[in-house]
Amino acid sequence: QLNVLHKFKGILFSTLSSKDLLNSLDSFDAREDDIFLVSYPKSGTHWMAEIIENIPNARITLTSPIELGDVSKFEELKGCSKRRVIPTHLSYDMLPVTIKQRQCKIIYIVRNPKDTAVSLFHYYRDNPNLPSVETWAAFLELFLKGEVVYGSWFDHVLTWEEHKNDKNILFIFYEDMKKDFTKSLKKITAFLGISMNETEVNKIAWRTSFNEMKNNAAKENCDPNHTICALTSNRNLVFRKGVVGDWINYFTPKQKRVFDEVFTEKMKHSELGRYLKE
Ligand code: PPS
Repeated sequence: QLNVLHKFKGILFSTLSSKDLLNSLDSFDAREDDIFLVSYPKSGTHWMAEIIENIPNARITLTSPIELGDVSKFEELKGCSKRRVIPTHLSYDMLPVTIKQRQCKIIYIVRNPKDTAVSLFHYYRDNPNLPSVETWAAFLELFLKGEVVYGSWFDHVLTWEEHKNDKNILFIFYEDMKKDFTKSLKKITAFLGISMNETEVNKIAWRTSFNEMKNNAAKENCDPNHTICALTSNRNLVFRKGVVGDWINYFTPKQKRVFDEVFTEKMKHSELGRYLKE
């Protein structure tokens, strides 16, 4: 594991996030109008980024994740002349302090942890920046222990759920976006204070559909400095199935039982119990 990952404050990171950068997160200078796109890995970051980028007249620039690269990254971000949209997979606890002080707008996406685990399993298998895993069973064990990139899903989500009603935070579910895209899009635009007409809404729905994004990924040139994933510069690795409930094809009944037990224990003060039923 350790040749491709390193631990920082007890959490595993890919070597693409340098220790120096992680150590200097609190020196990051947030602007009041910054927008942060946050999630545990494999929860829909690219989808949300595509949505925001396609909002007409938003006058924004999508940057690479805040924790990707070395310390010169913060200087580079300073030079950005438009409103910055910055993705990250950091937990609330690790978020640079100026983002909290300046009450920047934050969109947090949460996804069913079983689907997230399956998605991350495939990502581990395909991504040379991540350790090799032999089997699904072995990976699931690591996932449940939090011995994967960005640590435990449970701990990560709990740090954010505590802030889900903060007025600068929009807490949104991947499954709700799949079920009723228009409704979710309205929440996002209302949160950002942007209005759109029906034609614009339909255009975004089409442009950000899974198939359209997957097809375009193959054509897009990936500049490693501007990737929006903190774990790869290859967009082709990101678009796998894009569905809800794929976990059913991987979990044995026993694995589901064990997972649900861990969920019940870890999430006993959480309101995300829907994920025991979905
Ligand atoms: S990353 O690498 O952590 O930044 O990945 P992230 O973008 O957060 O999540 C990748 C999963 O999101 C799916 N995806 C989508 N689903 C629905 N609609 C659209 N447009 C879309 N785009 C990406 C992607 O397929 C990954 O999930 P899985 O289950 O592996 O398919």
